[in-house]
Amino acid sequence: MQLLYPECRPTSPAELASDLRFADKARPDRPYLIVNMVSSLDGKATIEWRTKGLSTDLDRELFHRLRTQVDGVMVGAGTVRAERYGRMTKSEELRAARVEAGLAPDPHAIVVSARLDLPADLAWPGAIDGAAPVLPPWQQGVAGYLAEKTVVAR
Ligand SMILES: NC(=O)c1ccc[n+]([C@@H]2O[C@H](COP(=O)([O-])OP(=O)(O)OC[C@H]3O[C@@H](n4cnc5c(N)ncnc54)[C@H](OP(=O)(O)O)[C@@H]3O)[C@@H](O)[C@H]2O)c1
Repeated sequence: MQLLYPECRPTSPAELASDLRFADKARPDRPYLIVNMVSSLDGKATIEWRTKGLSTDLDRELFHRLRTQVDGVMVGAGTVRAERYGRMTKSEELRAARVEAGLAPDPHAIVVSARLDLPADLAWPGAIDGAAPVLPPWQQGVAGYLAEKTVVAR
């Protein structure tokens, strides 16, 4: 893996996605959002509705390393239905990296959905340790509704 800017040298997903301190970059009243995606050269975001055929092991390693740096991972419900999401942080090593960065072992899973028609077998923190879902302040009006649906989703 090669870093091109600000200097040209070899690097690694672990180096690129460590000590990023996104929370320090956020305005006090706003979340700090980063986007990570993969695309084919001709602009496709999936092959037969899955990203797997488009990405390499290195892409996936960077993707999982980035998850060690954030409070939550936001995903569209269509993606959850197409990709069958497992636990957001895949290994003890990655959970340890999150703790070292001052974060909880697992990030919040934030699903963008109007219908909440989600697979019943999602392995997300609420479903792992029984913790109640935590919503950002701008979503707390729907907290009760979502909490009820989260129980259904387990
Ligand atoms: N190339 C990449 O890096 C990459 C990354 C991520 C995903 N993908 C691929 O993208 C595909 C999924 O695409 P998608 O079009 O289904 O998009 P999506 O963003 O995953 O999900 C769309 C869903 O978002 C919800 N939504 C949209 N607008 C909303 C609104 N205003 N309010 C509330 N909810 C809203 C709706 O959920 P409900 O229907 O539940 O209401 C809608 O069905 C998958 O095949 C996935 O593999 C590729």
